[in-house]
Amino acid sequence: MRCAVINKYGDSNSFSIESNFPEPIPANNQVKIQVKAAGVNPLDYRIRNGELRLFIPSQFPMILGNDMAGVVTEIGKDVTRFEIGDRVFGLLDANEFPSNRGFAKPGCYAEFAVSREDTLTKIPDNVDFIAAAATPLAALNAYQALHSIVKLNSGQSLLLNGASGGVGTFAIQIAKAMGLKVTAVCSKQKIELLQSLGADDCIDYNSEQLETSDKRYDLIYDVVANQSYSKLKHLLNPDGSYISNIANASTIFSAFYHKCFSFLGARQHNYHAWVKSSGKDLGAVANLMASNEVTSVIDEVFSLEQIGTAHELIESGHTTGKLVVEL
Ligand SMILES: NC(=O)c1ccc[n+]([C@@H]2O[C@H](COP(=O)([O-])OP(=O)(O)OC[C@H]3O[C@@H](n4cnc5c(N)ncnc54)[C@H](OP(=O)(O)O)[C@@H]3O)[C@@H](O)[C@H]2O)c1
Repeated sequence: MRCAVINKYGDSNSFSIESNFPEPIPANNQVKIQVKAAGVNPLDYRIRNGELRLFIPSQFPMILGNDMAGVVTEIGKDVTRFEIGDRVFGLLDANEFPSNRGFAKPGCYAEFAVSREDTLTKIPDNVDFIAAAATPLAALNAYQALHSIVKLNSGQSLLLNGASGGVGTFAIQIAKAMGLKVTAVCSKQKIELLQSLGADDCIDYNSEQLETSDKRYDLIYDVVANQSYSKLKHLLNPDGSYISNIANASTIFSAFYHKCFSFLGARQHNYHAWVKSSGKDLGAVANLMASNEVTSVIDEVFSLEQIGTAHELIESGHTTGKLVVEL
C-alpha cells in the first residue's frame, strides 16, 4: 500500500513516501479501513520528533497519523457493529485491548489502517471524509473534558484558552450545544470565526491579560496551557474547575497534587485531560454533527506527498481549526 513513513525520529523532512508497504491485518476485534482522509494533530509531530518516545514507543519504519475517515474493507470475526462498505471515522487504536497509550501503531498516513471496533463510529450522511477525518482526536478531547471530567449545567460559564485551534473550535460548539456561556481567548483575526461558531465573548490575547481580568467562570479549559491553575484560579467561581490539556510534568503534577490534597476541602478543582479513543463518545459527537450543531473547521487539505508541509504548519501552533491529508 501507499503510505508516508519515518525511519527515525526527526523534523518535518523525515517523511518518505512508500508505494509497496505491507497492509495491516485486522485482529478478531478489529476493522480494516481504506483511509480516505487523515487528520493532522499536534500529537503526530510530538510522536514524529521523539518527544513522546518513552510514553508511546514505536518501531521503525513508522506510519504516523491518529485520526482517520474511510470505508470498511474487512472485519475481524468478533466484529458485530460494522459491515464492509460502511463509512467510518475514529481515533485509531490498533492495540488488542484499550489502553491510555494505544494511539495508532501503525497509523493512517496510509491507504489502509486497522482499529478496534469500539474505537469507531459511522460517519453521518451529511459529513464528508475530510470533515470526518478532522474530527476524532480534537472533538473527543473537547467532548470528554466538558462531559466526563466535569459536570456542567446549561447556563454555566466557560473560559476557553486557545479557542481557534482543532480542540478549541470543537469545544466552543460542544459547549454551546450544552447551553454554556462561552468566552473564547484567541488572536484578533480569529474573533469573527469564533463568534460564528457560537462564542458569546472573545478576548484577544494580545490586548488583554487573563491574569489581570476580574471576571469569574465555572470552568477554565486551557487548551494551549500557556497559563496554569495557580495563575488563573482567581478567575474561577468558588466551585469552579480548571482543566489543562497539555501533557507536561508541570500540569500533570499540579493536577495530581490537587487531587491528593482534595481531602482538605478545596472546593475548586484542577484536572489534566488525556483523550481516550471511544467510539461511544465519538458517536455522541457524530449525533451533534448530524444535527449541524457541530461542524469541523478546515484550515487546509494536503496530499500525502505534502505531509511534511502539513507537519511544519501544525508545529507552528497557529493553525485555524484542522489540517487534513486526503489519500
Ligand atoms: N491531552 C490530550 O489528550 C490532548 C488532546 C488533544 C490536544 N492536546 C494538546 O492541546 C493543544 C492544542 O491542540 P489543538 O489540536 O487545538 O492545537 P492547534 O490546532 O495547533 O491549535 C493551536 C491554537 O492555539 C492558538 N494559540 C496560540 N497561542 C495562543 C495564545 N497565547 N493564547 C490563546 N491561543 C493561542 C492558535 O491560535 P492563533 O493562531 O490565533 O494564535 C491556534 O489556533 C496541543 O498542544 C495538543 O498537543 C492534548
